[in-house]
Amino acid sequence: MIKQLAAHIKDYKTASIKTGIYVSFEVLMEVAIPFLMAYLIDYGIEAGNMNLIIGLGLGMLLAAGLSLFFGLLSAHYAAKASAGYAKNLRQAIFYKVQEFSFTNIDKFSTASLITRQTTDITNIQNAYQMIIRVAVRAPIMLIFSLVMAFSINPELSLIFLAVIPLLGVGLYVIVVKAHPIFEKVFRTYDHLNNVVQENLRGIRVVKSFVREDHEEKKFEEVSERIYQQFSKAEKILAFNAPLMQFAIYTSILLISWFGAQMIVSGYMTTGQLASLITYATSILMSLMMLSFVFVMITISRASAERVVEVLNETVDLENPNSPVTTVKNGNVTFTNVGFSYSNSLDKLCLQDVNLKIASGQTIGIIGGTGSSKSSLVQLIPRLYDVTTGIVEVGDVDVRKYDLQTLRDAVSVVLQKNILFSGTIKENLRWGNKEATDEQMIHACKLAQADEFISAFPDGYDTYIEQGGGNVSGGQKQRLCIARALLKNPKILILDDSTSAVDTRTDALIREAFLKEIPHITKFIIAQRIASVMDADAIIVMEEGRIDAMGSHEELLASNEIYQEVYHSQLKGGNDFDEQ
Ligand SMILES: Nc1ncnc2c1ncn2[C@@H]1O[C@H](COP(=O)(O)OP(=O)(O)OP(=O)(O)O)[C@@H](O)[C@H]1O
Ligand SMILES: [Mg+2]
Repeated sequence: MIKQLAAHIKDYKTASIKTGIYVSFEVLMEVAIPFLMAYLIDYGIEAGNMNLIIGLGLGMLLAAGLSLFFGLLSAHYAAKASAGYAKNLRQAIFYKVQEFSFTNIDKFSTASLITRQTTDITNIQNAYQMIIRVAVRAPIMLIFSLVMAFSINPELSLIFLAVIPLLGVGLYVIVVKAHPIFEKVFRTYDHLNNVVQENLRGIRVVKSFVREDHEEKKFEEVSERIYQQFSKAEKILAFNAPLMQFAIYTSILLISWFGAQMIVSGYMTTGQLASLITYATSILMSLMMLSFVFVMITISRASAERVVEVLNETVDLENPNSPVTTVKNGNVTFTNVGFSYSNSLDKLCLQDVNLKIASGQTIGIIGGTGSSKSSLVQLIPRLYDVTTGIVEVGDVDVRKYDLQTLRDAVSVVLQKNILFSGTIKENLRWGNKEATDEQMIHACKLAQADEFISAFPDGYDTYIEQGGGNVSGGQKQRLCIARALLKNPKILILDDSTSAVDTRTDALIREAFLKEIPHITKFIIAQRIASVMDADAIIVMEEGRIDAMGSHEELLASNEIYQEVYHSQLKGGNDFDEQ
């Protein structure tokens, strides 16, 4: 895990190393001060040597100034290195998520991915900053002070050897106990984000169902849980400080006690005792800092694991090694296809699908909700991979294509579609970056969108709010169709894409398709028989299988499900706006 995380330090390695170097200088200056102090007391003050006092005093001042200077430099580089490192990690996660297939995306929730990008990376950033400063500073200070202490008085310094292992054991216990709680805390964070996100995204629904109280309760529950877990973890971590204090003061007390006796019996000078006590404080301070690093690592370890989990996720839809980069035609063939979202054979949501569709045909697909219509068409642009069997486009297995080639040739208007914040033109250019105004207007005319777009005061430059909030459902669907058409695909899939469009406009769209893009293979999933009845063939789906396939007349004569749907829709009367 550490190796993997370290790989993302990249261009901030120099800043990290500089931090370490400046920290070392800072510490060296700091530890020189008590050393000079002992000299000053013993040979300056006690001997009454004024020149030496002034010289050493200036030396100490210089050391303090330099230590401040190096300290500032190291803080500067530490901030730069850790913030840069966090930036790299965020980028790595974002890019990784862009590579994800639909299956990968299904696995991580949006909320969890957001927590990982924000809270978790901030934890790592803080820990990293601490590590490059303190993890360099503390050991240098510790070793240097220990050496100095032993050189002044080895017997008294033995006290440290007794205290340090005790501290070690205490810290170990704290870390082991706190880590699992922090793991839990971050999972609860995911949950909290999920609650907030769902609420904000669905705020209109929440309001129209007057569910504010329920939502508030849901939120309170999670935030209470975070509070509980956090305070539990922090309580354990809080033992760190008293443990340290206890160790520090015990050692100083013991050193003073024995030291005083040694001075009385002439074994040691006052200056030596003074600097020994200063070193004792530095030794224990550095231990304290190390313990903070441990605490920080404990908190961030849970975060690091979560970040690495995303980075390590194997993208299950990869480009093949020598991919096919042209799609010859719009033929689509399914051979014994079975498909399961969880990739397990006993939970197939599509079974025994066999289809042979020639370029330029229009295929209607109808079937009850949950009959796997969407699942069927998502296999064509390889949004998911089949579990068994083969899907071919242009007579080549879809898994052999370069993904971009395939998805450029197979344009899907997904059932749950979305527009992005930006102008209509910007949204349309998702279909084709280089689309000219004429091409955009042509596509919008086909999708029957030109008329309402032109009626907007800003026309094609009208700003679309996030998620397409400021256009109607039917307008949004038509914009999505136009966007898909701009790709100039060989195969066009409309997954229930005219459900919010009135029947007359729906008919106009189909008419325009027939006249203007007859060479494109078209799949039209619809709830209305009227939307599919003039297709070359209609597929009737039932519980993940193809129940029947044929023309409107054939199905009306022979297929029970089709007859039922047809008659129920006929009886229900036409839409009010139908001629
Ligand atoms: N991302 C997913 N992960 C797991 N299961 C899914 C996923 N999407 C759909 N399913 C399941 O697969 C089955 C078929 O769903 P599908 O969306 O293909 O039906 P559909 O015919 O398009 O329905 P509708 O007419 O409501 O759009 C359903 O039982 C559904 O619960
Ligand atoms: Mg569907």
